[in-house]
Amino acid sequence: MPARVAMQQISKIYPNGVVANHKVDFAVEKGEIHALVGENGAGKSTLMKLLYGLEQPTHGAIFLEGRRVEIANPQRAIHLGIGMVHQNFMLAPSFTIAENVVLGNEPRKGRLVDHKRAIAITAALSAKFGLQVDPTARIEATPVGMRQRAEILKTLFRGADLLILDEPTAVLTPQETDELFWAVRNLVDQGKTVIFITHKLGEVKEIADRVTVMRHGEVAGRVATREVTEADLARMMVGRAVLLSSYARPAVRGKVVAAVHNLGCIDETGRPVLRNVTFAVHAGEILGVAGVEGNGQSELVEVMAGLRAVATGEIRINGKAVQGASVREMRANGVAHIPEDRLANGVALDASIAENLVVDRYHRPPFTRYGVLWPRSVRQHATALMQQFDIRGAGPGASLRSLSGGNQQKVVAAREFSAAPVLLIAAQPTRGVDIGATEFVHGQLLAKRNAGAAVLLVSADLSEVLRLADRIVVMVKGEIAGILENGPQLTEETLGVYMLGRNRPTP
Ligand SMILES: Nc1ncnc2c1ncn2[C@@H]1O[C@H](COP(=O)(O)OP(=O)(O)OP(=O)(O)O)[C@@H](O)[C@H]1O
Ligand SMILES: [Mg+2]
Repeated sequence: MPARVAMQQISKIYPNGVVANHKVDFAVEKGEIHALVGENGAGKSTLMKLLYGLEQPTHGAIFLEGRRVEIANPQRAIHLGIGMVHQNFMLAPSFTIAENVVLGNEPRKGRLVDHKRAIAITAALSAKFGLQVDPTARIEATPVGMRQRAEILKTLFRGADLLILDEPTAVLTPQETDELFWAVRNLVDQGKTVIFITHKLGEVKEIADRVTVMRHGEVAGRVATREVTEADLARMMVGRAVLLSSYARPAVRGKVVAAVHNLGCIDETGRPVLRNVTFAVHAGEILGVAGVEGNGQSELVEVMAGLRAVATGEIRINGKAVQGASVREMRANGVAHIPEDRLANGVALDASIAENLVVDRYHRPPFTRYGVLWPRSVRQHATALMQQFDIRGAGPGASLRSLSGGNQQKVVAAREFSAAPVLLIAAQPTRGVDIGATEFVHGQLLAKRNAGAAVLLVSADLSEVLRLADRIVVMVKGEIAGILENGPQLTEETLGVYMLGRNRPTP
């Protein structure tokens, strides 16, 4: 039987000259779960954009079930049974889930959209494929896991039998990932084929039948997952052995840098999202924050970064009360922030890499001297950071938009690490970055800690929190359920139990 997808000798050269894919052969059999892995910038998203008609190959041919096809645009891809869920979601935030699922192909009653049927269709698809959603909920009010299920339902509604999922688990908690995997297996049982991009090699072993490894735009290998270990895959990806070991941790805990006292905060609808939050971050300490998504962690970060108003309580940085300060004022007080949603808060996509690396400091020396901006120092600064953080792109003048997802994240991390903060707030700092870069970012977080900075680390990845944090704050329903000393006795399982609020940890 011919392969569901066969891409042959595919090359893609972007207009700026970047060779994103070079003579790639990629094949997926019907009914399999096929993982696609590789470092940031290896060309994974590009290859899938070619398959979904978002970009056109420079050379090469695409065959579907043995038949040569031209995929001029996503409409054509959908017609050919291909659906894609992107690295960055593309749903309309003020629409309901049902409206999003049927968008562009709405059931009608006369000239009006038949909302009842839209809801019924969504509910039926949801039941059939085990992708649980609330059809009437507005996208902006639903947690990220449900948004993702809505995206998948949307592709299924349009008749997709080949689903491309670009880093679907990067934004999910471990529980949500389990649910997604369950649904993916269910899809395959019902005859669908799934291509799955991830940086988490454990997931490849868990869910995929086969895996294609990309390196620098080429295919480094294609193997059955049961025949390889995670370490094998890492070596194929990076070209050397990579090992995320644990760290010896004796922290020298210094004075209190950030003190949060009785902090309270309400959301847009007046619902309390933070209540009586009290903790301190010391110099030379990484304080981890763990919690099931939506339990106040994001709001806590926003408040501390100056992005969200405080209802009650106070925040002190080095003794100075700063609650209610703006982002700029927080920065002036020595707070740096790697935001969880880099597209919303971190970067200007159409500005250059160099500009993005100085947005917080271009008005100061060495970038501005005698009131004049010195483009040369901006460029030198960018070149140095790009080298240090291994940011791969066309050069300091390239737009941020032209970088791969993981490399965009590295730009934000590089800027914040280099800001010499007294308090570094790192929210999901390795979301979407590859294992080599994760190792590097972890090293940087520890270096900041060892140099005496206070670090607040919020991550949905419990292994990351357990690996780096000296103490861990567990948040449940906007409150602190406990503060735990990290150590060998603490595991992902025990932490998970605390996070569900079934057990109160003893401080
Ligand atoms: N629109 C674009 N214009 C120019 N260059 C681009 C564009 N999109 C991607 N690139 C470049 O193509 C290369 C491959 O990028 P791609 O997004 O395919 O990587 P990726 O493997 O998906 O990485 P990540 O894991 O970081 O998402 C990178 O060097 C990137 O800078
Ligand atoms: Mg990508």
